[in-house]
Amino acid sequence: MQLLQFLAAVFASLVVVWATDNGLQKIVTWDNGSLIVNGERVIIMSGEFHYQRLPVPELWLDVFQKFKANGMNTISIYFFWSYHSASKGKYDFTTPGKDIQRLFDAAKEAGLYVIARPGPYCNAETNGGGFALWTSDGSGGKYRTSDATYQQVWSEWIAKIGAIIAKNQITNGGPVILAQVENELQETRYDANDTLVLYMEQLKTAFKESGVVVPLTHNEKGFRSKSWSTDYNNVGGAIDVYGLDSYPGGMSCTNLDSGFNMPKTYYQWFHEVSPTQPEYLPEFEGGWFQPWNGYFYDQCMAEQSPEFADVFYKGLVAQRASLINLYMAFGGTNWGHSAAPVVYTSYDYAAPLRETREMRDKLKQYKLLTLFTRVSKGLHNTDMESNGTQNAVDSSAVWTWVLKDRNSDGRFYLAEHNSTNSKAVSDFALTARTSAGDVIIPSLQLAGRQSRWIVTDYAIGNETLLYSSAEVLTYGIFDHPVIVFYVREGQTGEFAFSTQSNITFEAFDTASDIRGISAGNFTSTKYTKFIYTQTKGSTAVRFSNGILAYLLDIPTAWTFFAPSTTPDPNVRPEQQVFVIGPYLVRSASIDGDTVSIIGDNANSISIEVYAGAAKTISWNGFELATETTPYGALIARIAGTEERKISLPALAEFKAADSLPEIAPAYDDSRWVIANKTSTLSPVKPLTLPVLFSSDYKFYTGAKIYRGYFSGSGVVGLNLTVQGGLAAGWSAWLNGKAIGYHPGNASLTLTTTAISFGNATLKEKGNVITVVTDYNGHDQTSTGPAGAENPRGILGAQLLGSANNSSSLLFDHWKIQGNAGGEKNIDSVRGPMNEGGLYGERLGWHLPGFDTSDWEMANPGTEGITGTGIRWFTTTFDLDVDEDLDVPLGIEVGAAGGTVARVLLYVNGYQYGKYLPHIGPQTRFPIPPGIVNMKGKNTLSVVIWSQTEAGAKLSTLRLFEYGKYQSGFRFSKIDGKSLQPGWEDRSGYA
Ligand code: GAL
Repeated sequence: MQLLQFLAAVFASLVVVWATDNGLQKIVTWDNGSLIVNGERVIIMSGEFHYQRLPVPELWLDVFQKFKANGMNTISIYFFWSYHSASKGKYDFTTPGKDIQRLFDAAKEAGLYVIARPGPYCNAETNGGGFALWTSDGSGGKYRTSDATYQQVWSEWIAKIGAIIAKNQITNGGPVILAQVENELQETRYDANDTLVLYMEQLKTAFKESGVVVPLTHNEKGFRSKSWSTDYNNVGGAIDVYGLDSYPGGMSCTNLDSGFNMPKTYYQWFHEVSPTQPEYLPEFEGGWFQPWNGYFYDQCMAEQSPEFADVFYKGLVAQRASLINLYMAFGGTNWGHSAAPVVYTSYDYAAPLRETREMRDKLKQYKLLTLFTRVSKGLHNTDMESNGTQNAVDSSAVWTWVLKDRNSDGRFYLAEHNSTNSKAVSDFALTARTSAGDVIIPSLQLAGRQSRWIVTDYAIGNETLLYSSAEVLTYGIFDHPVIVFYVREGQTGEFAFSTQSNITFEAFDTASDIRGISAGNFTSTKYTKFIYTQTKGSTAVRFSNGILAYLLDIPTAWTFFAPSTTPDPNVRPEQQVFVIGPYLVRSASIDGDTVSIIGDNANSISIEVYAGAAKTISWNGFELATETTPYGALIARIAGTEERKISLPALAEFKAADSLPEIAPAYDDSRWVIANKTSTLSPVKPLTLPVLFSSDYKFYTGAKIYRGYFSGSGVVGLNLTVQGGLAAGWSAWLNGKAIGYHPGNASLTLTTTAISFGNATLKEKGNVITVVTDYNGHDQTSTGPAGAENPRGILGAQLLGSANNSSSLLFDHWKIQGNAGGEKNIDSVRGPMNEGGLYGERLGWHLPGFDTSDWEMANPGTEGITGTGIRWFTTTFDLDVDEDLDVPLGIEVGAAGGTVARVLLYVNGYQYGKYLPHIGPQTRFPIPPGIVNMKGKNTLSVVIWSQTEAGAKLSTLRLFEYGKYQSGFRFSKIDGKSLQPGWEDRSGYA
């Protein structure tokens, strides 16, 4: 071998030689530049998704295809232990919503890698932060420490879930490339014997023992500590690839002027904490959650803004981040008590993909970055060459980051406003270093919250862009290279090619003012620079070097898709088809002369396809009348849904029944659980005995009903302390009469009220108090004193006497009732958290097929409920939506001001909405297909718990559509039947 060839071979192998692996496999390795998968560098652009929050397995692929279409190559997933394990030793991975093999299969089908995050603790604003709720009674030991009891319980979970993750690792042909242990566990002491260090070691061992061999990761809580990096004070517990989460927006939902300050310290942070590793953001602000009494996501324009994606996501890549996961990319729904008390039913999160599965502009803007990073190999392993205010530019209002490719002359400049929240319009010139010397690009502009990439020495197949201030969206290699540029309308783009000095061009749109100017610099190099002002829409330009360029404005760029022709998540420039125009392109394939596209569309429109040799476009299985443009693209019209009428039925013909017979003194509670414990494992001590914590009696989710018996007439009141989480309330009755309530308070977890019995007549024996306590989830660890072990239900119930004798006034006994079957999980399909302990829930009134024929007719709108109480309303409605349509549906509710009530919506047995009119904010509840049957019959229950004598009724109750898309996705394949088991006799739980 000649010396030069030999050196070249050695050099080529350096990436592999220098990459670090974890000693268990060599398919996923890393260095300080990026992750390396199967020997190829890849920038991970990921979106967080929680399948638990979309319990219809067929829809996982819908979401994944939307992620993929928007350029992501990875999904990051939390697996909630709570969802799979209803009781100790029991694990469900087979009922539809919990069959996670289907999840991995769908990810693979969509061409996405998976980052698996099974906890044991997740946080995630989910009930108990994801801990199995059967540990909430204290039997789970000391959470998140090396405590042996805790280790025993979580080990069960990690062994089970780990084995499924292991089976789906990339080493076995599956999509899993990384696995995260724990979440936001802060390393507080660098001491090998510290309980947290030992816990991390236990976790790492357990993951490995379950078969997990891909690199392990962790998620540092935003700049707060420096935890678990092999490069930083490693006394044990360190994982393979360090990660930092960050939610820097600081925005208020409705004030567009607040926040929007992008930190400039990511690069330094990683440089200090994990210098040998790629910069990994396991969670970066995809949106933010909203609390009870907060804003509704539709109002959160700041979080939804595409400018956020433009400035923050580009700004992260420019600080050398090469693994980015947006939390959330699709938030979904906290149906059936899966919320932690800090959030309400919707977990829309103002995420790029809306709870309704519709794409927000923020997602489309993210795509302009993801498709760029996908093909920009020079960005996959860079040095931070320089950065700063007025760095390489002539304006002190502008900051640039300059990344230099380690393997070529290529540079990536990102220009952003020095203050990222600035709305100023700044014109500036940038001096770009190219292989042909410095080039001054005079015509740059940032219009407010905008960031712009300027590339130099950027390879496109055999051609090279010497520089470009028109942003590269992507490029593809077809019969010749096609490059896609974008700039805001009215802004200037400028670029030049390296190889020839006298390139000519033909523009296929007279509106474009593109012009070529012969240029050069102090070296002898000559080149032609091309300058244009972006007009509305798109212009195609063919150059004499064979390159075809598309010049797109932003709205048009948002409709640009580059479906890949490979199942590999790491897509190469030659493995793409280009499509401009539709709402969504899910996939494309070329067969002979035909390019077949599967997608979704709302407005009838012309689409343009660039697919090399193909002559005809087929859209969702139909061949279209196709024209070929002079530059070899295909054009055809696709239909919209403008003419497609959907008729949604009115919600009427309700039947109603009382759902609170338990207040009657004679109510038969003989089958209820006797609450007589005098001690508890809970770290929180009861205020009075017996222990009335619901978890101690194995009732975890939903409302609980207590009946307390006492004797004697000398009692004048009751001091009651109840804990149901933020905004939870309760109501109490004495011998059938309402005596008091707490409406709940969005900032109080626990409420105490002294209730006066007023002039109620008491009996010498057998007085009974019925208390219904509401439930908004178990707490996450951040809520003191005991996080998920903070008890639920009654914490203390002290009878009050007329004199100073209260402490001697004791209840004779207590009974408690919760969800039917407690931890038996009798409706395993809907899972352990769906139901609570209201009478109607226990008897299965929410389930399809329950017979209401002997109920009275009454409407939750016109009649509602008079006085205090809980009344159950059920109706059915039919839908008949065409199978080629995706029509995201919602139920809207409302109530007159002053209504104090707690309202549950059950759709085909799923608790898909909790409405608190006096607390808010949510009034619109999206229901996905599969939970609602788009063709056929549906059962809707509305449960109104009126807390005051004024009663309660709904002023609004209607079905509505969020949007209407013609879709090539097979929504008709959704197996609603298996998701909606029907009613069975539950009288034993009365
Ligand atoms: C992070 C946490 C996530 C989620 C997020 C806020 O700190 O890791 O699980 O809670 O905050 O939505």
